[in-house]
Amino acid sequence: MIHIIDFGSQTCHLISRRLTDLGIENKILEPSDVLKTITKEEPQGIILSGGPKSVYEKGAPTIDKKIFSLGIPILGICYGWQLTSHLLGGKVTLVKSEYGPAHLTVTNFEDLFYGFPKASTVWESHGDSVMKMPEGFDALASTETVIFAAAKHKTKPIYGVQFHPESSHTKKGVLLFENFVSRICKIPLKPKKINIDEMISQIKEKVGDNFVIGAFSGGTDSVVAGTLVARAIGKQFIPFYVDSGLARNDVLYRIKNIFPKILGLKVTIIEAKNEFLSVLKGVVDPELKRKAIGGLYIKLFENELKKHPRAKFLMQGTTYADFIHSKGTKNSAHIKSHHNVGGLPKDMKLTLLEPMKYFYTDQVRQIGIMLGLPKEVVRQQPFPGPGHAVRILGEVTKEKLEKQVLADEVLVDEMKKSGWYEKVFQCWTILTNSQSTAVKGDGRFFGDVVALRVVSSKDRMSADWVDLPYSLLQRISTRIVNEVPGVSRVVYDITTKPPATMEWE
Ligand code: XMP
Repeated sequence: MIHIIDFGSQTCHLISRRLTDLGIENKILEPSDVLKTITKEEPQGIILSGGPKSVYEKGAPTIDKKIFSLGIPILGICYGWQLTSHLLGGKVTLVKSEYGPAHLTVTNFEDLFYGFPKASTVWESHGDSVMKMPEGFDALASTETVIFAAAKHKTKPIYGVQFHPESSHTKKGVLLFENFVSRICKIPLKPKKINIDEMISQIKEKVGDNFVIGAFSGGTDSVVAGTLVARAIGKQFIPFYVDSGLARNDVLYRIKNIFPKILGLKVTIIEAKNEFLSVLKGVVDPELKRKAIGGLYIKLFENELKKHPRAKFLMQGTTYADFIHSKGTKNSAHIKSHHNVGGLPKDMKLTLLEPMKYFYTDQVRQIGIMLGLPKEVVRQQPFPGPGHAVRILGEVTKEKLEKQVLADEVLVDEMKKSGWYEKVFQCWTILTNSQSTAVKGDGRFFGDVVALRVVSSKDRMSADWVDLPYSLLQRISTRIVNEVPGVSRVVYDITTKPPATMEWE
């Protein structure tokens, strides 16, 4: 067992996932009063997570210093390493913030960095760094801006890293966890396998003779979750889809033609395009937009529910990333409200059935493949619940929606034709809320700026922009300014996550 102490990192749960994937039992704990649990449960290792605060900030989460003298191996990550240094007499300061990729140079290849190359890419997300290590520590690695990017105590099993090994963008992150677990904590690795039959029988057992109503978004998460439910309970499952007009056009095609074949059930379609446009009228703030969409969705859902009084469960395709982005944990910052989490009616009598809740996108896809779902369904790109509405900055109107749909279709078409659609995690356009000057047919034209966002990611928790060929970017740009009325300019978003979120709103 490894204890993970959560100081509010956005990616604390990813640490847990990395350990779970390696077959290591682990538990996330709040920092307050953790010493008691550690003393009682005697974990074989402790990981201190990152967090949004500075160790010097008032109210910054901290930990009883005694944990460093228990002899249990400790790995501090980002804030966890800064806190280790701070509590043991080192110095932490804000010198230069770093977000996104950095180049790690390893100087000591023993235990923690065993098998690492001398140089590798790591993912950073920090303001402060350790400027003076506490007495008794040796540096193990550095980056361009952080001298003590990794360190270890000379005699005690205490380690610290400034970067995020849990991020899938840290190239050798999994190896670092393997080393910590097997070489330092001395726990044998036993990688875990997904068991579909077990998942199906768990659903069967939970639902019994009851009925389940299923909310479909058209995306991979809900269709994979729904397939498991359909295989477990067949006709006791009642799937439906709300057509908000904010999704890509191919979603409706799939719902009508492909999903019934996969599920062996018809999906009820609730048509509500105009209603969504009217609740979005005059709404500019991104969070209010999400709330307006979520609110209407609930209203439509409640109407649907009245028709199925026998339903006792509600199936949703919520993944762990949705959950963590929306709710987070005690010390984490709220980023944005993904509308399928936490937006359900307070007095809802249904019990939630969320088979994907503890899985990430890559695992959901793996389950989809194991279930034998068609490639175009499993491999399709994630699409946010609020859809085009959060990709049209500012107020959403019918006219803007038409422009955004057209521009997005051009991008997707070119990505598919060039074979890039399959290679990237997500690609989409953003109808920015700014205008720029152009010359069209010898006349002045003042029109919209469209941005392109094409990212690589595994689990949505970190992302990098994709280095698309210039010739492809040029084709997309030319087609958008020529084919989408009112567009004057196309720009390419080259920002990593962190710091930028994937969606602009
Ligand atoms: P962000 O913008 O939070 O996006 O970095 C991470 C991933 O989540 C998707 N996304 C959403 N999905 N409801 C969803 O179901 C939402 O409200 C929502 N907002 C963002 C986004 O497309 C990316 O894959």
